[in-house]
Amino acid sequence: MPSEPTTETPPRSPAATRVLSGIQPTGRFHWGNYFGAIRQYIELQSAGDAYYFIADLHALTTVRDPARLRGLVHDAAVDLVALGLDPSRATLFVQSDVPEVTELTWLLMTVCPMGLLERCHAYKDKKSRGLPADAGLFTYPVLMSADILAYDATVVPVGEDQVQHIEVCRDLAGTFNHLYGEVFTLPKPRLVEGGARVPGTDGQKMSKSYENTIEVFEDLAAQKKKIMRITTDSRPMEQPKDPEGDHLFDLFSLMAAEADRLKMAELYRRGGFGYGEIKKALVEAAADFFADARRRRDEIVADAGRIEAILADGATRARRQAGDVLDRARVACGLARGGQGGRG
Ligand code: TYM
Repeated sequence: MPSEPTTETPPRSPAATRVLSGIQPTGRFHWGNYFGAIRQYIELQSAGDAYYFIADLHALTTVRDPARLRGLVHDAAVDLVALGLDPSRATLFVQSDVPEVTELTWLLMTVCPMGLLERCHAYKDKKSRGLPADAGLFTYPVLMSADILAYDATVVPVGEDQVQHIEVCRDLAGTFNHLYGEVFTLPKPRLVEGGARVPGTDGQKMSKSYENTIEVFEDLAAQKKKIMRITTDSRPMEQPKDPEGDHLFDLFSLMAAEADRLKMAELYRRGGFGYGEIKKALVEAAADFFADARRRRDEIVADAGRIEAILADGATRARRQAGDVLDRARVACGLARGGQGGRG
């Protein structure tokens, strides 16, 4: 039975499209990050109000070297801008620059059943591999929920591996709203066909933890070596092959022009060609596909102050928005006294 809200919640403006997503600075971005998520960020930055952040608080569960973390955060911002994220359209910021989100995490933690987190795959995977998991990893989906809810996000562009976390977020938001009134906007994940689960060099999902990644801005010679070593099956050259579900073909499809993709599919079906051929084509397609981004990256790297200015401006804008939502949540659950609104 729905309970009555205990406090009056301030009125809300109707939800327009509000895009939000985050990415961990745990290493250089790989093709999975780009085709699953970053390409969507760029496409959606003109579709509505967009917020994108570098998830350094999340990264703390794996990166324990302070200087390395600082470097990775900076590189992540450089890479995102080089790949086309436009700070005049989207708000780009660093997660830890918005402390409102960590307070919101606590509020959500108080309505989060343990069982919900025990079912989450990042924690389950680590446990099943016998690795020690800390409370940061266990409660990670709650922080991620706060990340999303703090900005009234309606659309969250991600790869398939993040869908479960967005379900947790919807669950927690629903429970909080049920208890305290309509405080939070419920978000939806957005996935792209062909990019939701980009395969790595071994055919499994591309992921840093599987050591099967190809980085977007990797040195071209090193990238070529990696591509030429991608695992393939041992069917003889003359045998016709089905391109569907072949991870080399899937990777090629992400980067090649449609005409080249069709030609390659035809070669697969006809047989009489070796995997070396598609590997070479993939090396070229990847170099072409990211050539402009590489050029832009060189320019941005040369302009040291620019990235810091972008992130400082992004933090100001993000804090304003997250502060409003936190105020709403504080008032709703009874933390604010005497009609004083939220913080301060
Ligand atoms: P992270 O940093 O692991 O990955 C960033 C984004 O890249 C996507 N991705 C992939 N997509 C397709 N195929 C792949 N092989 C592949 N590998 C990674 C991820 O799905 C993700 O969209 N928990 C998040 C970061 C986060 C976040 C958030 C995301 C923190 N708070 C709030 C959205 C909203 C993560 O670890 O992503």
